[in-house]
Parts: sequence; structure tokens; C-alpha cells
Amino acid sequence: METEVWPEPLPLAQVVVRPARAEDVQAIFETIGYWAGQGKMLVRPMQNIFENLRDFFVAEIDGQFAGCGALHILWGDIAEVRGLAVRPEVQAKGVGKEIVTACEAEARRLGIPTLFAWTYSVRFFERCGFRLIDKSKELHPRVWSECLRCPFFVGCNENGVVKRLHGVPEPLNLPEPPPTQVPPGIR
Ligand SMILES: CC(C)(COP(=O)(O)OP(=O)(O)OC[C@H]1O[C@@H](n2cnc3c(N)ncnc32)[C@H](O)[C@@H]1OP(=O)(O)O)[C@@H](O)C(=O)NCCC(=O)NCCS
Repeated sequence: METEVWPEPLPLAQVVVRPARAEDVQAIFETIGYWAGQGKMLVRPMQNIFENLRDFFVAEIDGQFAGCGALHILWGDIAEVRGLAVRPEVQAKGVGKEIVTACEAEARRLGIPTLFAWTYSVRFFERCGFRLIDKSKELHPRVWSECLRCPFFVGCNENGVVKRLHGVPEPLNLPEPPPTQVPPGIR
């Protein structure tokens, strides 16, 4: 008689991260909107999510939307983790970390050696291997030029964090980013 073999039991929260699809946009929009309403991140219009959908990853638990995050390339040597938002009911189950891991894998695939993020959740990013930077001294020129387009530029109190990806060399023949036009009166 054959012995029946049962699969290993699944862990309580099995997180699956995959590239986002058009059908995810509503959930991405609502989850980012929820946290923006709590003052934890900037609101992101739906059109902006559609336009940047190829940047986004979605995390699922048991096939249900659990969170999202995006990897946005800024220059050949730096990409930004943005739009990172975990549904409040599934916080602290490793979802955020899995999304950051997916962003990191994508940066490695593209040969981009540094990740950057703006955040109020410094401890979370530190747990993901990032370090807090002095934003008055260490901002990459491309990050800086994005700042100048941000409506919260004056009085910004977000923290900048970076992670240098070990084993990813600086790209060869990388052109300098265009010079940043700093408005008068801004250091
Ligand atoms: C911040 C956020 C993305 C974290 O995602 P999460 O799924 O709740 O976090 P995880 O379970 O993956 O936590 C990973 C690690 O970070 C730690 N961590 C997470 N949030 C933390 C916090 N606020 N303070 C201290 N540590 C924290 C966890 O303890 C865990 O540590 P471990 O590696 O020792 O186990 C999520 O809570 C969220 O969406 N917050 C609101 C929106 C936001 O702040 N987005 C970031 C803006 S860029």
C-alpha cells in the first residue's frame, strides 16, 4: 500500500511578490492613499500609478493584495524605492521587507549599485540594510533635482536612506547627470 505524502504546512503568512498588473492599480491607489491620509507618505494620483506601473511590485498573502512598492530608476547608478505601502491589517508580517528585497533584486538585474528612499520609517529601512544619510550633504544630484519638483520641498522632514548593493559594480562610462537648476535662495 502507498504511503500518502502530505506537503509541508504553509507558514502563517506566505508572502508572494510579483510585478504589478493593471488590475492592481485600484488597490495600490487605495493603500498609498490610506497611508498618505495618515501623513506617512505622499499621495500618488491614479494616473501617476498607471504611468509608472512597470516600476511597481505587488505582494500577496493567500492571493490577496497585501502591499506594493516601486523601483524607479533615477540614473545609471541609483534607483529609488518609492510607493512602499503595506495594508494596515498585515503590517509586521514581513511584507514590506519582501517588497524591498524584490526591488533590490531588480536593481541588481539592471546593474544599478545603489538604492535610495525617502521615508519616515527609518528603522524599517535600517532592518533592510539601508543607512540614514545627511541629506544636506549626501544627496545624489538626481535625487536633489527630483526634490526641486516636489510640492513639499520647503520644510521637508522626510529622511533619506541609502543601500549600496554589494557585488554590483559602478556602471562603466556613466555620463554625469545634467546640472541641477537650484532656485535662488535655496542652498
Ligand atoms: C513601513 C512599512 C513599509 C513596513 O512594512 P511591514 O511589512 O510592516 O514591515 P516588515 O514586517 O517587513 O518589517 C521588516 C523589519 O522592519 C522592522 N520594522 C518595520 N516597521 C518598523 C517600525 N515602524 N519601527 C521599527 N522597526 C520596524 C520589523 O520589526 C522587521 O524587523 P526584523 O527584520 O528584525 O524582523 C509598512 O509598515 C507601511 O506600509 N507603513 C506605512 C507607509 C510607510 O511608512 N511607507 C514607507 C514610506 S517609503
